[in-house]
Amino acid sequence: MLPALITEIPGPRSLDLAARLSRVECRNTTFSSPDWPIFWERADGSNIWDADGNRFLDLTSAFGVATLGHGFTADSLRHQSASLLHAMGDVHPARLKVELCEKLSDLTFQRWTHKPGKTLLGNSGFEAVESALKTAVLATGKSGIAAFQGGYHGLGYGALLGNGIPWFREPFAPQLANVSTLLPYPRIHHESSIQSFREALANLNPATTAAILVEPIQGRGGIVVPHPSFLSELRAWCDAHHALLILDEIYTGLLRTGPLFACEHSAVVPDLICLGKALTGGFPLSACVGKSEIMDAWPTSNGEALHTSTFLGNPLGCAMAIHSLNLLSSPETATRASTTAAHLATALSSLHGLPFVHEIRGPGLMKGIELRHPNGQPAGNIVISLVTQLLKKGLILLPDGPLGDVIALTPPITITPEEIDHSTQLIASTLTQLA
Ligand SMILES: Cc1ncc(COP(=O)(O)O)c(C=O)c1O
Repeated sequence: MLPALITEIPGPRSLDLAARLSRVECRNTTFSSPDWPIFWERADGSNIWDADGNRFLDLTSAFGVATLGHGFTADSLRHQSASLLHAMGDVHPARLKVELCEKLSDLTFQRWTHKPGKTLLGNSGFEAVESALKTAVLATGKSGIAAFQGGYHGLGYGALLGNGIPWFREPFAPQLANVSTLLPYPRIHHESSIQSFREALANLNPATTAAILVEPIQGRGGIVVPHPSFLSELRAWCDAHHALLILDEIYTGLLRTGPLFACEHSAVVPDLICLGKALTGGFPLSACVGKSEIMDAWPTSNGEALHTSTFLGNPLGCAMAIHSLNLLSSPETATRASTTAAHLATALSSLHGLPFVHEIRGPGLMKGIELRHPNGQPAGNIVISLVTQLLKKGLILLPDGPLGDVIALTPPITITPEEIDHSTQLIASTLTQLA
């Protein structure tokens, strides 16, 4: 469905809600300006309706969560909510927790290595990362973490250790343990960054490094695609130095980049994989899945789990995740994802040569358009204007990258060719106007 003609964005209800929210929510949380935000009321597929009744196309899948489109797992939520809302996660768990852990094992390590994987469930994505970091300490007896400049793993204190975007990290640096090393991320076709990465990896201290934490493609860092041998080089380093390779596939996982997991582009098997976002299609549930022999570094529970939480293995989230994983792992969905991705790539290629367009990159349904000024400077200001103008025309998009100079497009698999073409035409005409 293409967006309805919109005359006033944000409308009066959204403006009123923004004013009320600013009085009662921490001021750092929701960005508010005369042009932003709209308040969501309802969603279906790629469409969002706001509190004023305007309809929008969501080209973000709401931070990569609604990979199958909004509302796809609502039936499983409704069905599950009729019988059980909450259980005692690490004491008397919901039956569905078993089924979800089995499914996660089947889709990851069982498929890759013919041996089961073991899972630690969490709520937000950053919790899966923190579970992985704790596992690395237990499995290796070391405490150092290597992560990447531009990397993003969520904002809990553990996950912040691997955060490579100074904006997020620096205000809290005094409370962060001095255990991380940030390596350069080797961008594809950028010889100097590939060389700096290799030098930094060669200098990484094997005696202290417990794990390398990495996104197979940087998401929040600006949809940055690495050199093709990147993950294999990390795998080799970890194998040689008794360190764990932790792949953060919270964004890239579950068909976002083409295959079910982005590591499958390079056939690299991690020691631990972190999943979240699209796992449920709209419920806070995450998972750290690891090789059994590594996860068994955790001691057997003696009745007091070393790592758990009140909502661990929540049955609503488990039901949605099982439903979502069944759909995401089906051949029909994979075909739909590749057809949609091919259409998106063709449509976006028509933007080459337009004002400010420096690079269009990213596999599958994880695309970034980097904008630069004619003098070569990053055009974060143009990205902001573009995203704001496009909101007024019915498109939901986000700026990305540490400099905000990338427009990220991570639409649902179910977006239609007409919706893609319409969006691309609006992006093109708005870029031309801004020039
Ligand atoms: C790669 C990656 N890891 C971790 C996270 C954190 O997930 P959450 O915000 O659910 O804690 C994100 C969120 O954007 C992410 O993109």
